[in-house]
Amino acid sequence: MNSVTATGPRFRALLPTPSADIDPSAAYAYPADLDRPWLRANMVASADGGAWGPSGRTAELSAPPDRILMSILRGQADVVLAGAATARIEGYRPVRPREVWKELRAGRTATPPVAVVTRSLDLHPDLLADAPDHARTIVFTTESAPADKRRAAARTADVVVAGEDTVRPEEILVALADRGLFRVLTEGGPHLLAEFTAAGLLDELCLTISPHLLGPAASRIVAGDAPSHTHDLRLGHLLESDGTLFARYTRI
Ligand SMILES: NC(=O)c1ccc[n+]([C@@H]2O[C@H](COP(=O)([O-])OP(=O)(O)OC[C@H]3O[C@@H](n4cnc5c(N)ncnc54)[C@H](OP(=O)(O)O)[C@@H]3O)[C@@H](O)[C@H]2O)c1
Repeated sequence: MNSVTATGPRFRALLPTPSADIDPSAAYAYPADLDRPWLRANMVASADGGAWGPSGRTAELSAPPDRILMSILRGQADVVLAGAATARIEGYRPVRPREVWKELRAGRTATPPVAVVTRSLDLHPDLLADAPDHARTIVFTTESAPADKRRAAARTADVVVAGEDTVRPEEILVALADRGLFRVLTEGGPHLLAEFTAAGLLDELCLTISPHLLGPAASRIVAGDAPSHTHDLRLGHLLESDGTLFARYTRI
C-alpha cells in the first residue's frame, strides 16, 4: 500500500487480474526511461457520458477515490496541462506541494508546473504570479494574443508563442520536451483534449466513470470542431473504488 492511499479509499482491480487491494500509484506508473513526451489525459465522465455537472464544473462528478487518483497522477507528472476555460472554471492555481508526494516526486521538484493554453490570456493573476521558481506557470499562446497581456504574463510566467491564431498541439509537446518535461498530464478540458486526439498525440486516457446520470446538457469529454477520427485503444486496467470505475487506456 502506497503512503498516498494508506488512510484513504481502497482500490480493487477488476482487470486484467482481479485483486482486492492494489496500489494505484504503481498501477498508473508512467513508462520508464521516456525519451519523448508521454501525453496522459485524466478525465471524468458520468455513466451517461457527461463531462461536467449542473454547476458547470466537475465537482459533482468527483468522489474521494477520484480526488485521490487525481492527486496521485499530479504527483507523478512533470507538468499539468489544461485549456484556459478549465483553468478559469475550475479555479486553477499553481500546484501545491503535498506531504504524500515525497516518494512519487523523489529526485524531482516538489511540484509540477501548470501549463495553460490560451488565446485570450484571460488567466487568474495568481496562476501567473504565485508559482514557485521551480514550477513557473507555462503559458502557451498565439501571435494574435493581445501583446500587452503577453508582456504582462511574461513578467512572472514562461510564455511560449506556439502558433499564429491557434496554438499547435505538436508545438506544446516539443516545448515541454525542451524543458525536460516528459510526463505530461492533461486534465482537459474537452476542447483541448479533442485537439490532441485529432492530432493523434494522446498516448493514454485515464477515464474515471462516475456513478451519476447528468442528462444531455453536459458535453462529452471531447468537444469542439476538431476533425472526427478513429484511434484504437488498449484497455490496460479497470479499477473500482466505492462504485467509481477507473479505466486506463493506452494507444495501440
Ligand atoms: N470531465 C472532465 O474530466 C473535465 C476536465 C476538464 C474540464 N472539464 C469541464 O470542461 C469545461 C471546460 O472545458 P472546455 O472544453 O470548455 O475548454 P478547455 O478545453 O478547457 O479550454 C478551451 C480554451 O483553451 C484555449 N485553447 C484551447 N485550444 C487552443 C488553441 N489551439 N490555441 C489557443 N488557445 C486554445 C482557449 O482559451 P481562451 O478562451 O483563453 O483563448 C479556449 O477557449 C468546464 O466546464 C470544466 O469543468 C471537465
